[in-house]
Amino acid sequence: MVARVVPVEPFDLVVFGATGDLARRKLIPALYHRMQDGQMPEGARIIGAARSEMDDAGFRKLASVALEEFVGSAELDKLVRDRFLGRLGFVRLDATTDQGWERLHAALPDVPGRPRAFYLSVAPRFFGPIARHIADSGLRGPEARIVVEKPLGHDLASARALNAALSGAFDEAQIYRIDHYLGKETVQNLMALRFANALFEPLWNARHIDHVQITVAESVGIEGRGAYYDTVGAMRDMVQNHMLQLLCLTAMEPPARFEPGPVRDEKLKVLRALAPVNGLGAVVRGQYRSGNSQPSYAQEADNPQSRTESYIALKAEIGNWRWNGVPFYLRTGKRLRARMSEIAVQFKDVPHSIFPGEGGHPAPNVLAIRLQPDEGITLSMTIKDPGPGGMRLTGAELDMTFAETLGATSLRMPDAYERLVMDVIRGDQTLFMRGDEVEAAWAWIDPVIAEWEERSDRPRPYDIGSSGPEDALMLLHRDGRRWREIEA
Ligand code: BG6
Repeated sequence: MVARVVPVEPFDLVVFGATGDLARRKLIPALYHRMQDGQMPEGARIIGAARSEMDDAGFRKLASVALEEFVGSAELDKLVRDRFLGRLGFVRLDATTDQGWERLHAALPDVPGRPRAFYLSVAPRFFGPIARHIADSGLRGPEARIVVEKPLGHDLASARALNAALSGAFDEAQIYRIDHYLGKETVQNLMALRFANALFEPLWNARHIDHVQITVAESVGIEGRGAYYDTVGAMRDMVQNHMLQLLCLTAMEPPARFEPGPVRDEKLKVLRALAPVNGLGAVVRGQYRSGNSQPSYAQEADNPQSRTESYIALKAEIGNWRWNGVPFYLRTGKRLRARMSEIAVQFKDVPHSIFPGEGGHPAPNVLAIRLQPDEGITLSMTIKDPGPGGMRLTGAELDMTFAETLGATSLRMPDAYERLVMDVIRGDQTLFMRGDEVEAAWAWIDPVIAEWEERSDRPRPYDIGSSGPEDALMLLHRDGRRWREIEA
């Protein structure tokens, strides 16, 4: 099976902070792949903008090195690479001052109807000033869009300030707030699963679902990002954005259409229906300690007194008709046993088991939507143990690993950024967060953080390579439930 490619219009994409980490690691490789797959039309251009003393040739060199590193020389098609590098240009510009804007102006010819995207791959404190400069220097035409990415604030007040700064210069319909989880193939598949199959909807509610577990486990640590991470922690880094977006897509009502307005309205309703977290008893924070000659979190972050969590588990509840009484348990952490992300929907027990004796009690069905690795969906079922010897029950899984089911083991799963950048060019905001969603997420998170800060709460230690702190097990045990295994 071959992925279908829908070409986009010729466009101009300006990447501010083009020499930085995100651009090199994600954007440049994503754009290269789009060209390789035939989605980048003739005439599309990518303009790097940064303060560095650099010219077009220097930027092409930087991009070429980034492709070697992040696409890999084995996968790199030299012809495509050279065509791709030919699309790149560079403008030296100090985004916070007036310097260099006329150069950018000169590099962007005014072609009516041509999409023009400004990707702000820079620290959030520059979002407002750059947006303002774009608007003031006359670069914001009707086809202009601005792309920003987290951290979108540190709390509700700062998120509001950021939104105000952006909307002072651009219309909401021109602002693309990236949450790269929304670009993951399986996350989009969650919507296909729920809204393109009639099978699940009648069961998708408190009458039939016992609880939902959302896990984003990582085996890596903070990877040299200590200076940033230590000021945010897992709650702000992962829960406020990625995990709550996953929760929204799992819990939202069917939108009337798969379009930005209806989809985002439904997600917003979920965020606004989240019940306040029920005290610190519903939250467990953890921090990995040293072991097996690997440094602790505090050592990696170079802050021996750090109270920042590298792990968090919490119980969220949604106060509406559909989900009343169904807990959504969220957990995420670094340096855990394996890299594994999934949404697991556990259905209720059968009301009465007709099967006698040992092994006669069927395990509840679980629908697991696996984001990574091996993207796919499994439904665990109870079946008869095959063969003679009486009616014994056993568990079995209906397994739909996408790569296999689609006969696409050789098909490269596109990175989330590939999809999202092309959506920006197409002008499709469905998979981007609206300003009010970001604020609603902070409004729910802020009191939880305030409570642990007020109590000077210290995260519980956990071992590197474990499933997290013991207390996190208790969070579910108390409710008579248990976490699913973290395994690759
Ligand atoms: C980022 C977080 O947003 O997502 C990182 O800042 C985290 O801390 C990363 O490692 C996880 O993304 P993925 O796509 O590897 O699951």
